[in-house]
Amino acid sequence: MAVTGQTPMPVVVLISGNGSNLQALIDTFNRDNAPARICAVISNRPQAYGLERAQQAGIPTHVVDHQRYRDRPGFEQALQAVIDDYHPGLVVLAGFMRILTERFVNHYLGRMVNIHPSLLPNFQGLDTHQRALDSGLAQHGASVHFVTPELDGGPVIMRAHVTIHPDDDAPTLAARVLREEHRIYPEVVRLFAEGRVKLDDNQALLDGIAVTQLSKHDHA
Ligand code: GRF
Repeated sequence: MAVTGQTPMPVVVLISGNGSNLQALIDTFNRDNAPARICAVISNRPQAYGLERAQQAGIPTHVVDHQRYRDRPGFEQALQAVIDDYHPGLVVLAGFMRILTERFVNHYLGRMVNIHPSLLPNFQGLDTHQRALDSGLAQHGASVHFVTPELDGGPVIMRAHVTIHPDDDAPTLAARVLREEHRIYPEVVRLFAEGRVKLDDNQALLDGIAVTQLSKHDHA
């Protein structure tokens, strides 16, 4: 009989589109002896390509189409019911393009993370790559953070830096940032599943130390 480690932490991934971050997570975790396992993928858009990626990996998928609900709380109630059926240890937002209410966010406080394509706190919101180019900054990147009621404002767990080249445009920069996203998101999920990353008093802790005190959270 194969020797298996501890039961992997169930993870639910929420997507709206392509799902390349989802793919990086599937490739890392849906294999023997991983500390986490993607147990379901939920999209608010029926056409999201990430649903196909999940199906190809044999992962259950669900669509909770926000357009079919009269208001945000109705949508979120339906979404929460699907998520909670899986009893996830972690909810991962991977290109999930809906703003969430405080009530929903607080239900998952400390067990929901997001990836944002900028070096937070720079460039919260949309169009981050063009805004980084327009800023004249030398560096851009991506951040994984705990989700709190402040949009893109929760405590950062890990960042990855990307150097902006003089000939970059938004697509070339976005492609390099995305490659880094695919590296740091699985890393954060692993650390969380191993119990090494926690949210405590609105701070992200790694091995009990505030991430803001560690240079390690910046992966240059
Ligand atoms: C990524 O750039 C992520 O940072 C942002 O949305 C994009 C999703 O890409 N939140 P994908 O669907 O994972 O390919």
